[in-house]
Amino acid sequence: MCGIVGAIAQRNVAKILLEGLSRLEYRGYDSSGVAINNETGVRAHRAVGKVQALRDKFDAVPLDGKQGIAHTRWATHGKPTEANAHPHFSGDDLALVHNGIIENHAPLRRELKEKGYEFKSETDTEVIVHLIHDALKSEPDFLQAVKNTLKRLEGAFAIAVTLNHENERMIAARKGSPLVVGVGIEENFVASDQLALLHVTDQFIFLEEGDVVEVTRDGVTIFDAQDTVQDRPVHVFNHNVDATDKGEYRHYMMKEIYEQPKVIAACLEGRISETKVLTSCFGVDSSFLKDIENVHIVACGTSYHAGMVAKYWIEDLAGLPCSVEVASEYRYRKVAVPKNTLFLTLSQSGETADTLAALRMAKELGYLTSLAICNVPSSTLVRESALTLLTNAGAEIGVASTKAFTTQLTALLITSIAIASEKGALSAEKEAELVTSMRSLPAHIDEALKQDAAIKKVSDRFANKHNALFLGRGPMFPIALEGSLKLKEISYIHAEAYPAGELKHGPLALVDEDMPIITLVPHNNMLDKLKSNLQEVAARGGELYVFADKDTDLHNEDGVIFTEVPKVDEILEPIVHTIPLQLLSYHVAVVKGTDVDQPRNLAKSVTVE
Ligand code: F6R
Repeated sequence: MCGIVGAIAQRNVAKILLEGLSRLEYRGYDSSGVAINNETGVRAHRAVGKVQALRDKFDAVPLDGKQGIAHTRWATHGKPTEANAHPHFSGDDLALVHNGIIENHAPLRRELKEKGYEFKSETDTEVIVHLIHDALKSEPDFLQAVKNTLKRLEGAFAIAVTLNHENERMIAARKGSPLVVGVGIEENFVASDQLALLHVTDQFIFLEEGDVVEVTRDGVTIFDAQDTVQDRPVHVFNHNVDATDKGEYRHYMMKEIYEQPKVIAACLEGRISETKVLTSCFGVDSSFLKDIENVHIVACGTSYHAGMVAKYWIEDLAGLPCSVEVASEYRYRKVAVPKNTLFLTLSQSGETADTLAALRMAKELGYLTSLAICNVPSSTLVRESALTLLTNAGAEIGVASTKAFTTQLTALLITSIAIASEKGALSAEKEAELVTSMRSLPAHIDEALKQDAAIKKVSDRFANKHNALFLGRGPMFPIALEGSLKLKEISYIHAEAYPAGELKHGPLALVDEDMPIITLVPHNNMLDKLKSNLQEVAARGGELYVFADKDTDLHNEDGVIFTEVPKVDEILEPIVHTIPLQLLSYHVAVVKGTDVDQPRNLAKSVTVE
């Protein structure tokens, strides 16, 4: 998704801004641009495609200056062209970058055109910069003109604005899209993501909804939504040296797949004792657990799939009703909230616009409390939720979520056991048994990763496939959904997932020798039923890719390609079965030569609706 970087310093900021944009590349984008202020005015370069194309323009025609703004754009209004890339200008003097969507851009555009403004792009963003230009005609103070303009905008935004002859300050603001201030020594910065600034500072101020900030070399002044100056705390970033480095791996995705044993161990650390889940992991007061009578889980994409697995765990272990819904649906319907319902959100980034909107709506609906399971401690979701359980996966850079998903599942299992235990639905013996199983999880993931070479071989058979079907039953059905999402996302092969028992109700019509069927086989009372489903496929000539433990008595045979998955306790099966599917989609994407870490059209953090 779009990214913002801004800098005001005693030194040339061009390199700082370009490096900031490179650090934002993982979020997904299709064009980029930089505007630099110096004594001669505000000048810009823009380029379609990778940040390297922008660097090439700087190499050909350098721009130097001590103040500037920069942007990576993920197209929403208008194609990814140079004209639509940010920064956008009004006249030669005023430049602006913007993340988010201005919902009332059409009437504002009409109004500005009537006043004689000419539009050079198809973007919603361009209205903001012309509005500020127009406001400056009656309000000569730059800061006040920006504040006056923001009152007219509907929708979500984070912006950074720079004005010629104002070489001592730039203005930034946020409402609905994240923005942080990076604090340096005689230099200050803004960015949509703190990772964009780690090369220049590790001190950050997280702006709040409605904040406007005046950034100078010597300091920042923050005005809240009521226009009152606020002194917000400075947070020091906890450096994880691995986070933005691919190390020995060709892609971040592979590095992150291989980090799973380590990050799952980090997710468990301090949350379980020898025999119990430590309810203190939810905060000092965990008494809410006893009061829960229902659970509503709301999330998007991969995080939603994690929520679907948790429904099985919560209903099975705690005996409580649990519903799971995608945030973009939840936020636009009338929701009936039973008494004492926990509102649980899941998000890797903690900045997903739909999930945040769902949380804000839920806060008005009388839930017992809100719990966020999230990977980014400084995120908006964490700050706005009553309770948080961090997944501790470390920065996830690959657009396709891997370690964030398995740590979400781990955190959800912790939560499910905690609820079940506090509700008296779980005996001490059973809880101790589950906790012992959980402790073995990193080792089992390690073992599952050992199938990498075998899965790589299997992936060659997928290179010329156009479709795939994934099957699972029970909690393995959401894992089938997640496997199909991973394959679609990074290899662009159309894939769908079905509960295996649904096959005969329609999708069986699609099965022929060109249709690979990927089946996750649990080792439980559904095994025999699933074997019958496999017969239905084999009888129609479908090619079966079976992922199962060796005691299931499944093996390679005509039409069946078998991959072994470690045998684990039933409760852990969804987590462990995720690994081969991640590896499969990774290797298929590599064979197909797609951009694994930044697949087309996708963004890491979806901060617009
Ligand atoms: C898929 C993927 C997305 C995200 C979704 C929600 O690999 O990463 O489907 O899961 O955009 O993002 P978060 O978890 O950041 O709220």
